[in-house]
Amino acid sequence: MQIVVIGTGYVGLVTGTCFAELGMDVVCVDKDKSKIEGLRKGIIPIYEPGLDAMVEANAAAGRLKFVEALEGVVEQADAIFIAVGTPTRRGDGYADLQYVYAAVDEAAALAKSGAVLVTKSTVPPGTGAEIKARIADKYPDAVLHVASNPEFLREGSAIGDFMRPDRVVFGTDHPKAEHVLKEIYYPLEDNSTIFATEIIAAEIIKYAANAFLATKIAFINEVADLCEAADANVQDIARGIGLDHRIGSKFLQAGPGYGGSCFPKDTLAFLEAGKRFGVDLSIVEQVVKSNDERKDGLADRIAKTIDDDLSGKTIALLGLTFKADTDDMRESPAINLVNELHNRGAIIQAYDPQGMEEAKGIFGDKVIYCDTAYCAVENAHALAVVTEWNEFKAVNLERVKTMMAAPNLIDLRNLFDPQRVRELGFSYSSIGRS
Ligand code: UGA
Repeated sequence: MQIVVIGTGYVGLVTGTCFAELGMDVVCVDKDKSKIEGLRKGIIPIYEPGLDAMVEANAAAGRLKFVEALEGVVEQADAIFIAVGTPTRRGDGYADLQYVYAAVDEAAALAKSGAVLVTKSTVPPGTGAEIKARIADKYPDAVLHVASNPEFLREGSAIGDFMRPDRVVFGTDHPKAEHVLKEIYYPLEDNSTIFATEIIAAEIIKYAANAFLATKIAFINEVADLCEAADANVQDIARGIGLDHRIGSKFLQAGPGYGGSCFPKDTLAFLEAGKRFGVDLSIVEQVVKSNDERKDGLADRIAKTIDDDLSGKTIALLGLTFKADTDDMRESPAINLVNELHNRGAIIQAYDPQGMEEAKGIFGDKVIYCDTAYCAVENAHALAVVTEWNEFKAVNLERVKTMMAAPNLIDLRNLFDPQRVRELGFSYSSIGRS
């Protein structure tokens, strides 16, 4: 099976590499010359555990190649996966499909008759139909089967998620496309459910899944607020409801609000898609609002611990990325937090195991960048844990306390045991726990 993947971002690179790992011949295409040159040398542009070794092994085995242009490779492809970005469009929040359509045009002009053109990128409901109409209009001689195959992998655990997904979903409207996709995913059949459906259903499944997970998080975060007021422990509530299989225990970890390149973008695009179909997705709308407010309120949580006066105070931040095991800062709660702390005159000292380079591009000189957690806490009036990196759990809190100007610890990820931390002499607050 010859596969071409267009776009070497998170999804494209992981998808291409994993298909190669499953034994297929894969060519990953990206217009970004320096990225392709780097990938050929084994330089992985993102931090994703295990990906570098897998790229190296499959490239060495000759199953995984990186090129800058479709011409010369797409002509042989049985399946062409489009995995380019669909960023939020300015103004209306809808997905910007310009890169998808550019890839469709290029592929349609060159692909062999009978090839399957699959959108892996997250695209709004109806995009598959638009792609079909576009090809029929602009490339009437092309015989391509359009399909949708949304991806559900998470950053930080992308390889495991790809190789052992709960389900693989694809939407097709032609038996040939269904046959090709079934063959591609056949190696995963033992570990997951392969669900074939209609194209528009596959497109909606992707948005509905992300919106539902975002809803779970926003919900437990509001319950956490109630727990703080009512003197209860949100982790007990999450466990108590999560044990009900109808609810499930996952994605009930209260925290600083969801971020990343997917939930914020996809919930907005889903809302806009709803509008286009004349449907008011009011629950999703409320989730977006609740999450935005949560992120905007983080600075207040810190201010509260130091008499509501942040001016001239040193605040240490441990973690800047939107979650652990990634270097991705997109829509991270840390962005709202840093901006607000800065507006209120705080001095910000921060450390993140992988996110420092990206953070520098976003925050510039608003932040003092530190090489270690200990360097970040020096003379700080408050310390906030923003990202749940494992290494923070092993920080020597006794040492931290002696280094700080005042022992205020705000644990936005509930990493620490409240009793233990308070016994060490910290004034401690966390999320949804007294
Ligand atoms: C998410 C989905 O989980 C993937 O299934 C999907 O494929 C991906 O978006 C995508 O559409 O491409 P990702 O954004 O990588 O994956 O990260 P998640 O692990 O889902 O976390 C998203 C945000 O929710 C993070 O800020 C995280 O800290 C937060 N979160 C997650 C919580 O606050 N509580 C939880 O219990 C879980």
